[in-house]
Amino acid sequence: MKDKLLALKEDALTKVDNATEPKDLQNVRVEYLGKKGPITEVLRGMGQLPAEERPVIGQLANDIRSDIEAALQEKESELAAKQLEAQLAEEKIDVTLPGRPVTTGATHPLSAVIDDIENIFMGLGFKIAEGPEVEQDYYNFEALNLPKNHPARDMQDSFYITDEILLRTHTSPVQVRTMEAMKGEVPVKIICPGKVFRRDDDDATHSHQFMQIEGLYVDRGVSMSDLKGILLTFAKEMFGEDQQIRLRPSFFPFTEPSAEVDISCILCHGEGCRVCKHTGWIEILGSGMVHPRVLEMAGYDPKEYSGFAFGMGVERIAMLKYGVDDIRHFYTNDQRFIKQFQRL
Ligand code: DAH
Repeated sequence: MKDKLLALKEDALTKVDNATEPKDLQNVRVEYLGKKGPITEVLRGMGQLPAEERPVIGQLANDIRSDIEAALQEKESELAAKQLEAQLAEEKIDVTLPGRPVTTGATHPLSAVIDDIENIFMGLGFKIAEGPEVEQDYYNFEALNLPKNHPARDMQDSFYITDEILLRTHTSPVQVRTMEAMKGEVPVKIICPGKVFRRDDDDATHSHQFMQIEGLYVDRGVSMSDLKGILLTFAKEMFGEDQQIRLRPSFFPFTEPSAEVDISCILCHGEGCRVCKHTGWIEILGSGMVHPRVLEMAGYDPKEYSGFAFGMGVERIAMLKYGVDDIRHFYTNDQRFIKQFQRL
C-alpha cells in the first residue's frame, strides 16, 4: 500500500511538472485529490490493514496530499507569472510605430468662396451685413416692391411658417433692413452673404437651399456706371485680370432698370463651349438700380438718393471657380470632395 501511494505521488508530481496550462493543473487536482481519486480510494481500504500500520499509512497519505497540493500551487503561480509575462510582451507598445495623424478640418468650399468675395468687396469699401433666415413677408416681398398677389412672387415660391412669415427666398430683404437701420444716413454700402430657400426641385444645378450674396450701394449720385465698374472689378479679382462682363436688360420688381450680369466664359474665354452653351458668356448675378419705391419705403428720398443692388448665387460662383459639376456636392459632405479645398 505504501508503494502504491508513493507511485501515485510520483505520477501526480510528473503531471504537475508537465502541465502547461492552469486547466491541466485543475485536472490533476480533480484526478488525484478529488473525492473519487486514488488516494481517497487507498484510504478507504485502510480497514484491511493491521492496526499498527494504519496511522503510518494515514500519515503518509496525508503527507502525499499536501505535497501534491504544494506542487500544484507552486506550478499555478509559475504558470500565472508566465501568462502575465506573455501578455505584457504581447501588449507592449511599440513607440517606434508611426503615430495616427490628427486630421484638421477643411474650410468648406462655399465658406472659402464667401471669404474671397467678402475680401474683394471689403477692399472696395463695402461692409458685411446680416439678416434673418426666417423672414417676414414684408421684408422678403412687400418692401421690395412685390405686393401681395404680384405675379413675380411666383418665381420665388417658398416655405411658409405662417401667411406672414417664411424662409427668405433671397438675401434682398437685407437691403431693406440695412436701410431702415441706417435711418436715412449715407453711404449705405454693404454686402450680405447668407442662406436662402426656395420650393425648388433638387438637381445638378438647383437646390431647395442655397447661398446668395447681396450687394447694396446707396448714396447721392450713384449711377449704373458705378454698378458696372464695381462688378467688373469683382469679376477680374475673382476670376482673373482678362475677365469681361456684360449687362443684359432684365426685370426685377426691386430694381429699375434691371440687368443680368454675365462674365466671359472662364473655360473658353469667349470662344464658345459646353459650359457657356456656346455663347461665350455665363450668367452670374442679377442687378439693377434700386427702384425708387424701395428707397422710399425704407426711408430714403429717391429724388435725393440713388443706388445699385445685386444678388449672386454663391454655389454658382464656386462651381465656376473650381469646376464643380453638381451643386449637390456642396451639401453631401463627402470628405473626398471637401478635402480638396483644404486651406490652412
Ligand atoms: N434677389 C434676386 C433673386 O434672388 C437677385 C437680385 C436681382 C438681387 C437684382 C438684387 C438685384 O439685389 O438688384 O433672384
